[in-house]
Amino acid sequence: MAKGLAIASLQILSVLLLASLGQSKTLFTNLTMYLHEFQSGDAQSIFPVAGVSIESALVGRSQAIPVVASLDGNNTALAATILFTNGKYMGSTVEFKGIALRSVDANEFAIIGGTKQFRYATGYIIFELVSAVGGYIISRVDLYIRQDIPDDYPGIAFL
Ligand SMILES: *[C@@H]1O[C@H](CO)[C@@H](O)[C@H](O)[C@H]1NC(C)=O
Ligand SMILES: *[C@@H]1O[C@H](CO)[C@@H](O)[C@H](O)[C@H]1NC(C)=O
Repeated sequence: MAKGLAIASLQILSVLLLASLGQSKTLFTNLTMYLHEFQSGDAQSIFPVAGVSIESALVGRSQAIPVVASLDGNNTALAATILFTNGKYMGSTVEFKGIALRSVDANEFAIIGGTKQFRYATGYIIFELVSAVGGYIISRVDLYIRQDIPDDYPGIAFL
């Protein structure tokens, strides 16, 4: 009897394990884009494009809340959005947050969410300075996006 119970509970355990294994789907998306940033006075415009040249296909817009976060002014805390306005991911966003250090050429930020095709996004973004001439700054942006999509979720909103 006790043995029967033990086997039954083992079976239940295996069923639960299988259920939890099958519960979510994970999607990985790696994207590379180049950020062209024009600074003038208090304002700046930022355009992520598919290549180094400003003539490259436009991918979207990046909008951020940057706050000077260190006394010497070298560190900037950033809460930012990349809004895709073109191509496959049009209308979707990736949200990221972190600290930009002027002392390094490559800064890493945490992806803290996303919308539409990037719902349930986590992962990280690496920003690398390509060139800075006057107020015109070009950075290479590598996004490593991971989406854990629950099994009971009806689906990612493909437009
Ligand atoms: C994304 O990049 C990571 C890190 O370089 C790599 O391990 C992974 O295989 C890449 N995934 C895809 C889907 O390209
Ligand atoms: C802050 O940046 C300035 C200009 O790049 C540099 O001279 C200074 O050493 C930096 N301060 C620190 C603490 O890194």
